[in-house]
Amino acid sequence: MKVIRTIVDLRTEIKHARSQDKNISLVPTMGYLHAGHAALVSAATKKSDFVCVSIFVNRLQFNSNKDFETYPKSEASDIEICKQAGAALVFIPSHEEMYALDPAIELSMPALSVNLCGPVRPGHFEGVLLIVARLFNLFQPDLAFFGKKDYQQYRIIERLVRDLNFPLEVVGCETVREPDGLAMSSRNANLKPEHREQAALIFRSFKILLKAFENGIVDPVELVEIAQDVIVSGPDNRVEYLQIVHPESLELLTVIEGPFVVAAAVFCGEVRLIDNVLIEV
Ligand code: PAF
Repeated sequence: MKVIRTIVDLRTEIKHARSQDKNISLVPTMGYLHAGHAALVSAATKKSDFVCVSIFVNRLQFNSNKDFETYPKSEASDIEICKQAGAALVFIPSHEEMYALDPAIELSMPALSVNLCGPVRPGHFEGVLLIVARLFNLFQPDLAFFGKKDYQQYRIIERLVRDLNFPLEVVGCETVREPDGLAMSSRNANLKPEHREQAALIFRSFKILLKAFENGIVDPVELVEIAQDVIVSGPDNRVEYLQIVHPESLELLTVIEGPFVVAAAVFCGEVRLIDNVLIEV
């Protein structure tokens, strides 16, 4: 597995892979890799023969300096995880390499940013769109893999690919969870030990909401309240949002008539976690 740090070297490697008729896939990440990322890489190895991982903590998508500075890093173990999972190339550029000039272009997707993380993280999806578009241009992958834990991001990227005709397929992969249901996230590493158990209440709240739905409660406001109560039974949990939205338009649902997504952002102590479930009706 090759570790590449410059755009020039990356272009050479991609050109070489293409000349050998390889099918290229990309798993974009911000590092501090865990089993969820390893699952994305393994899924990619099943569908392509040249799996690339990018590791880049993209400052542009952080709306707080503190969040950016405390984002965990672990380059050596990240490289090892990529190797074990079957990647052929890892791209680890510096900030200067990716943003030698401050970008003059702006990308945004207002239609899919109205709810969920959009209003509470101004600039976040703009930063994601820009880096992902750039990575697509650099790697020119046939396939790109994203975790559905970041459901809104996954939908936004799918739409980016459609709107700008990137010649690639976006593959969404299921969330990988800890045994107690907590969604795997690099941010879990920042949880204080006393908050770890409370963090599991997020997924638990989704399960209880689902039970309530199955028992006949169909009003989204009522369902949201039920889930919120479960989350805040953890005294150090604070719900930033908990919403029931349409799986594609991400619009808030006032009545449930088909599949829906329950998505939440919760501060467990100081650490902001997000999670969601898609419920088929
Ligand atoms: O999901 C992430 O880790 C990031 O948002 C991504 C897609 C790698 C862009 O920086």
